[in-house]
Amino acid sequence: MLTQAPKGTRDMLPQDAYLWQWIEQKEREAAAKAGYREIRTPVFEHTELFLRGVGDTTDIVQKEMYTFKDKGDRSITLKPEGTAGAVRSFIENHLFAETLPCKVYYLNAPIFRYENPQSGRLREHHQFGMECFGGKEPTVEAELISTLFGFLSGLGLKNLCVHINSIGCPNCRPVYHQKLKEYLVERIHDMCETCQARFDKNPLRILDCKEEKCKAIVKDAPVILDCLCDECREHFEQLQALLTARNIVRGLDYYTKTVFEIIMQAGREGLALCGGGRYDGLVEQLGGPATPAAGFGIGAERILMELKNQNLLPDMPSVTDVYVANLGAEMKIPAFTFCQSLRDLGVKADSDVAGRSLKAQFKFADKIGAKYVVIIGGDEYERGTVKLRNMATKEEKELPIATAAEEIKGIIA
Ligand code: HAM
Repeated sequence: MLTQAPKGTRDMLPQDAYLWQWIEQKEREAAAKAGYREIRTPVFEHTELFLRGVGDTTDIVQKEMYTFKDKGDRSITLKPEGTAGAVRSFIENHLFAETLPCKVYYLNAPIFRYENPQSGRLREHHQFGMECFGGKEPTVEAELISTLFGFLSGLGLKNLCVHINSIGCPNCRPVYHQKLKEYLVERIHDMCETCQARFDKNPLRILDCKEEKCKAIVKDAPVILDCLCDECREHFEQLQALLTARNIVRGLDYYTKTVFEIIMQAGREGLALCGGGRYDGLVEQLGGPATPAAGFGIGAERILMELKNQNLLPDMPSVTDVYVANLGAEMKIPAFTFCQSLRDLGVKADSDVAGRSLKAQFKFADKIGAKYVVIIGGDEYERGTVKLRNMATKEEKELPIATAAEEIKGIIA
């Protein structure tokens, strides 16, 4: 073989396509019910968008972006997350001048991160995300989390657990930074190099470090909830009425106030099903008018992985309901024409394209799970009829060729 797929990428194979279509349909329905409309943004953007939007001290920007120079010498990056592109589009297309809130979703958009591939962690994954621009109330987060919860439990998933936290706003976060640094200053030399580099620039990031020795130190760090200003506290308390609080921070810099994750209760350490939060400063930071916003992203591969773990994947639907077999070379054209007339009526039908014998055509029909086989040729054809065989019961009947397609449509339905 000439070459293999790049590490951390996966083909979506024909036998799995129905799962993706099924999940996407559920995502569309969930988003539409809550008044969100679809947005599609490019797979790549100017690198600067992510440097400024996602934050230059995040793991994503420091270690994980697929960045390259295009032929015009511009620095381009494959989307490492979906929010920054949606914000860029919201600003560039003046969506802020339309009726707010502007509620958008993206459907399994491809996302690229140079991560160490392992179970549930890919270099190309797909995110379903919802973003709401122009709502400052905690009802936005409540709506997002409820929609997510409804979507996931509607798929049958059990043991879902929402973790929420507030990481404050530009008014109260500096107070926490100070407190955190006071705690860390004596311990920072025992932490990893990345944490040491982040100490001055963005100490909050240190809470998100995955290194065991850093996690052990961070475990007893001061809690950000103790430093919230009145506005942030009130916002958080309103949400808490619904949800459980935990000391999480999340790996992107744009969040203000609420952050949340949905994990499986029996989930693997560090593997969230979904993450999101409020980002009231991002639209303005990227050059738009001050606009409060919140959203979430959920990895389609992780949903499918969890559905598989819980034995909840639906069965594959039939690919072909009716196979039209020909009784020899001279019947190829009538068989093809009959197959087309079934398709025109909306029946999933197929016919021979490989020059197979009748026996081999039957074998093929069986393999693809055809419920019925229509046989075109022989005495029946002379009489102006076709033979219809039920593959499960082996029953056969003759139908007039002129009305057979309509009749078969009725039988299938
Ligand atoms: P995130 O937590 O980085 O947030 O990613 C969201 C979800 O994408 C994760 O919970 C997970 O399901 C999936 N995911 C992330 N990385 C990988 C990977 N390497 N392989 C497979 N799945 C992965 C964001 O991206 C934010 N943009 C979410 C957001 C939207 N916040 C506000 N609006």
